[in-house]
Amino acid sequence: MKAVCGWSKAVALIFIFNLYFNACYQLTELQVCSMCGGTVLNGSTVGQFCSLSAGRTEGRCCVKNNNTIDPERIIGLDLSNCSITHLEDLHGASSVFMLDLSLNPIVNITDTTFQGFNKLNYMILPHDILCPGGNISWEKVEVKDGNRLCEGQKNICNQTGQLSIDCPENSLCAPYGPGFFQCSCADGYHGYKCLREGEFPVLQVFGALAASTVVMSVLLWATQRRKAKRL
Ligand SMILES: *[C@@H]1O[C@H](CO)[C@@H](O)[C@H](O)[C@H]1NC(C)=O
Ligand SMILES: *[C@@H]1O[C@H](CO)[C@@H](O)[C@H](O)[C@H]1NC(C)=O
Ligand SMILES: *[C@@H]1O[C@H](CO)[C@@H](O)[C@H](O)[C@H]1NC(C)=O
Ligand SMILES: *[C@@H]1O[C@H](CO)[C@@H](O)[C@H](O)[C@H]1NC(C)=O
Ligand SMILES: *[C@@H]1O[C@H](CO)[C@@H](O)[C@H](O)[C@H]1NC(C)=O
Ligand SMILES: *[C@@H]1O[C@H](CO)[C@@H](O)[C@H](O)[C@H]1NC(C)=O
Repeated sequence: MKAVCGWSKAVALIFIFNLYFNACYQLTELQVCSMCGGTVLNGSTVGQFCSLSAGRTEGRCCVKNNNTIDPERIIGLDLSNCSITHLEDLHGASSVFMLDLSLNPIVNITDTTFQGFNKLNYMILPHDILCPGGNISWEKVEVKDGNRLCEGQKNICNQTGQLSIDCPENSLCAPYGPGFFQCSCADGYHGYKCLREGEFPVLQVFGALAASTVVMSVLLWATQRRKAKRL
């Protein structure tokens, strides 16, 4: 009876532990939504996109979960009129589809800011700021109403132009945000430059959360066992 009780306590603890980590994850992911005051306005470009995509607004973000298992992802981000001068990191927003940076006195955008922003497909920038990755990374670039619009992110891996992407053997080129690409291992290959062949190590995929759960379980199991022995 005692052991059963101990285990249920352990399971409950692990459950709470995981909930806590998920909550923390969600909190840091959505920090960018409160980067400046105000909310996404209904009439704005991001607001209209959000209602069309059946998303939910949260501060300056439009968030949506694809299905019931996935956590909510930021699909729209309206940072218009936010007094941004230097844009470095939009942590947590790499799933964004639409980004509005208009009416900001931007002087510099760090080159790597949009690395990994694979889904970014519509950007509104102050007219004097160039589209990330250059015109070559977008289907259409235009200046309209004092803003620069970057529309339709191009797949840099599939350009018949002057750029030819060379990925090492056994790896494939994959888009990795405007102007960026990534060489990812072909099926059945992994490791540095994909020279080794085999299954991808499952543990790495599970990540820190699974590892922490395992550590917690082992610790709890050990302490419970010691208590049981002492009785
Ligand atoms: C924006 O739209 C939402 C839902 O459609 C509505 O509840 C809200 O009142 C609207 N806000 C404004 C300022 O129009
Ligand atoms: C939703 O899931 C589908 C298929 O799994 C994927 O193609 C799509 O990009 C996802 N959308 C978002 C917003 O994550
Ligand atoms: C930008 O923000 C300032 C103050 O935060 C406000 O006075 C101004 O009307 C805003 N401009 C626009 C175009 O929304
Ligand atoms: C913008 O940032 C880059 C490095 O990220 C730097 O080399 C460049 O001088 C900066 N330009 C301005 C105008 O601050
Ligand atoms: C990119 O496109 C814009 C709009 O069409 C144009 O004004 C600009 O000169 C182009 N820039 C380059 C480097 O080609
Ligand atoms: C690559 O580009 C060609 C023409 O530009 C297009 O027909 C083809 O579907 C593209 N392939 C991929 C994988 O995007």
